[in-house]
Amino acid sequence: MTGELSPIDKAKFVAARRAADLVENDMRVGLGTGSTAAWLVRHLGERVQSEGLRIQGVPTSSRTARLARDVGIEIISLDEAKMLDLTIDGADEFDADLNLIKGGGGALLQEKIVAAASEQVVIIADAAKEVGTLGAFPLPIEVIPFGWTTTQMLVEELLVSADVMGRKITLRMNGEEPFRTDEGNHILDLHLSRIGNARQLAMALNQMPGVVENGLFIDLCDKVIVGYPDGRVETRDINAGTVSEDRVDLVEDENLFSDLGD
Ligand code: A5P
Repeated sequence: MTGELSPIDKAKFVAARRAADLVENDMRVGLGTGSTAAWLVRHLGERVQSEGLRIQGVPTSSRTARLARDVGIEIISLDEAKMLDLTIDGADEFDADLNLIKGGGGALLQEKIVAAASEQVVIIADAAKEVGTLGAFPLPIEVIPFGWTTTQMLVEELLVSADVMGRKITLRMNGEEPFRTDEGNHILDLHLSRIGNARQLAMALNQMPGVVENGLFIDLCDKVIVGYPDGRVETRDINAGTVSEDRVDLVEDENLFSDLGD
């Protein structure tokens, strides 16, 4: 069945599979958003069904919540869980320090709150997500709809003195309408090409009154699991300073591929 997946999907599939192995009984697990995280949710659902794995999941978006319920994972809110043992999520970019750009799927706010509440954060990705310097992927920021054009102007002003290469800003759209996050906010995508000082930029953006949160995840990620289309997975642990490699079998249960419309 995995033979029908594109190489990039195989890479996401195996990274997600390896990360699903980290989940143990009675854990409270943050469930990320995006196509890689969707594989993770399916793998966990499979373990719930076949092994009777007992976990409670805190989803980072309404999309993930739907998928998790569909595959049989018990869902609780972050307010119920308060703190989490582990969060597994995707990313749009990661660098050598495991700092990230997230928010391509528009869920960065809940993703960051959930990551900050987690004992351990594991990012799953294909190798194309690795960059020398963050910024080629447009940096999403979540802004309050009230006065968003003013917020955009203020962000443009901030970028003039920031260590970045590009300064174009676009409002994310959903067809003819501005995209709305699960909290009803808008997303501005900052086309910066290269972010010289991600930590400084993240702090400066969050000082703007209309900015709710930005997609730079600094010092939040503990491990990155990189998947490859041939089944290899590489795990990089920033705290232990280790890199390990192993393999994931690409032959999997048909249940993983059932059409759940995630
Ligand atoms: C969702 O808002 C994002 O942060 C995703 O985690 C990120 O866009 C990665 O998505 P894919 O796994 O689909 O590439």
